[in-house]
Amino acid sequence: MDFPSFRRQNPQQVLLRNHQKIPLFRIHDDACKRALVDATMRVIESRWYILGAEVAAFERDFAAYCGVAHCVGVANGTDALELALRALGVKRGHTVFLAANAGFYGSTAVRLTGAVPYYVDVDEETLTLSPRSLEHAFRQDNPKAVIITHLYGQLADIQDIVEIATRKGVPTIEDCAQAHGASRGGRRAGSFGTVGCFSFYPTKNLGALGDGGAVTTNDPAVAAHLLQLRQYGWSMKYRVDTPGGRNSRLDEMQAALLREKLGMLDGWNGERRRIGNRYNQAFARLPVRCPISLGEDFVAHLYVVRHAERDALRSHLEGCGIGTDIHYPVPDHLQKGYASHQSEGDLPITEDACRTVLSLPCFPGLADTEQKRVISALESFFEGRSGAC
Ligand SMILES: Cc1ncc(COP(=O)(O)O)c(C=O)c1O
Repeated sequence: MDFPSFRRQNPQQVLLRNHQKIPLFRIHDDACKRALVDATMRVIESRWYILGAEVAAFERDFAAYCGVAHCVGVANGTDALELALRALGVKRGHTVFLAANAGFYGSTAVRLTGAVPYYVDVDEETLTLSPRSLEHAFRQDNPKAVIITHLYGQLADIQDIVEIATRKGVPTIEDCAQAHGASRGGRRAGSFGTVGCFSFYPTKNLGALGDGGAVTTNDPAVAAHLLQLRQYGWSMKYRVDTPGGRNSRLDEMQAALLREKLGMLDGWNGERRRIGNRYNQAFARLPVRCPISLGEDFVAHLYVVRHAERDALRSHLEGCGIGTDIHYPVPDHLQKGYASHQSEGDLPITEDACRTVLSLPCFPGLADTEQKRVISALESFFEGRSGAC
């Protein structure tokens, strides 16, 4: 088979590409295209597409990678969160603590269970759930679970948070959808809390070629409960012993592809981190706030700067052909779709972050020349060179 992107490109094409828009994200599967094609053929030839050998093998591989005893594949990251909440006994009327700056994914899952979100403010530096604010929240309410999002690929202050929640007898759910492979003290995201929830949406650090998700845990009872919840609540075929079940399965094709990509994850994370490091050094003298960690606890899913004139900076970059996005513009407690007992002003750090954050291109395969263009476009904004990049 012939892959056009493997062919040599002539200098004119390269020149053209240099002036093309740099996207916020570009799928970078060239290095493993052959492996992905082989994995697809393997599944087609097996004639087994749902809950077979590939899903079982991926669950084994991913559990080992994360350093946990169990992994249960599900259909996507939102289902992972919802089913995890259900497996931990969260029901209508319960309270769940979580941050409000993480794109409403956790909130969607909480709302689907009928529970009520109680938003806790985030840490000024990492923009992840603040242990101090969590202590304060525990004095106000009595949650059934706490969701901690490792936002942008930055591990939260997870050991302290787990310790605070465990003291209160409350289970913790790590939302690792942006943090595959992030680690601290030799432990990886998804191994600190009671459960870890992952999305394999194509743009994630470990992305499928479609939707996918997983829950990791060391608790065999929680894992057994999840296995039932992902398949109609069956204890065995056609025997429904567990309420709250549904169809939420990772399919064989995605599992086979993810197995191939898992071996490349650490390399890709390293590449993301190197780009982040280069940006951090280049932006050190500019009046923007950059990610504070470029160590193992940050896998640079998104490289996010903060600046008071975010919208002006964004349109300048747009004019320079640099793709950007805002993760996320509206805090969960101010989303119009749901009434919240919390209102504007209740979460000052969260609300300020939503006004100031801007994500820049940072992904494996982002060329050296593209990185330079991002840097000089940002510099030109602060040097007042409007129209120049
Ligand atoms: C932090 C976070 N949690 C959960 C999700 C939901 O994952 P999915 O889109 O697979 O449902 C996403 C991403 O999309 C995410 O970024």
